[in-house]
Amino acid sequence: MKGEDRGGYRPRGDNREQWGQAAARFDDADASLKILGKPVMERWEEPFMGKLASIACSNGGRVLEVGFGLGISASFVQRHPIDEHVIIEANAEVFERLLEFQRAAKVDVSPHRGLWEDVVDDLPSGGFDGILYDTYPLAEDDLHVHQFRFVERALGLLKPGGVMTYCNLTSWGNLKGRYPDDEELFEATQRPHLEQQGWSEIGFEIFRIDPPEDCEYYAFPTVIAPRLRR
Ligand SMILES: C[S@@+](CC[C@H](N)C(=O)[O-])C[C@H]1O[C@@H](n2cnc3c(N)ncnc32)[C@H](O)[C@@H]1O
Repeated sequence: MKGEDRGGYRPRGDNREQWGQAAARFDDADASLKILGKPVMERWEEPFMGKLASIACSNGGRVLEVGFGLGISASFVQRHPIDEHVIIEANAEVFERLLEFQRAAKVDVSPHRGLWEDVVDDLPSGGFDGILYDTYPLAEDDLHVHQFRFVERALGLLKPGGVMTYCNLTSWGNLKGRYPDDEELFEATQRPHLEQQGWSEIGFEIFRIDPPEDCEYYAFPTVIAPRLRR
């Protein structure tokens, strides 16, 4: 069952307290990651992660990623000619994987463990050329808006001209029921939050994807890839 019929995945309750120490379940082929039973990341997103990485790395330099997950976007980031790769991850078991990733990485990786809310003040202001934000709604009331809290902080982390991209597929998988058109979805549900923040450019691309029938959180053949410039 696809799309509106399925209605999207809605994480329940408030998991902020438990998230850091909760068991992370990677399936055998590392094709998916569940935390607290929630579908956090799946490998079919790979091409989309490549797209987000290419936006975040388009200025080279020092790139920040928020949310390591299966490390798919991180692997794409490493293929770009950048100088440093800073990664924030909240979950302890996922963070262990990030440390393995760091050991094998071509470009220097600086890992930060914790919720971004708790570690963002340790990062240099105006220190980044690009940012890729891909976390997860840890509480029900954050489903559609957690990215905007971070994106607002990102303005202060980016150099002038620095570029930012983000995704919240769990939110968008729900919103597509009401806004099947990607442009309408972006204009109605994303731009109004971003316009208040002071970006010099706000835009997006529509990217083709192919989620499997059994994906609980996204069931559509296209997705938005936002591009913001400080
Ligand atoms: C969707 S996955 C990231 C997927 C990743 N882009 C990839 O390509 O595999 C989300 C990740 O963000 C982490 N996370 C969720 N909320 C967070 C927060 N507030 N701060 C830092 N990390 C967070 C989760 O533990 C999870 O590993």
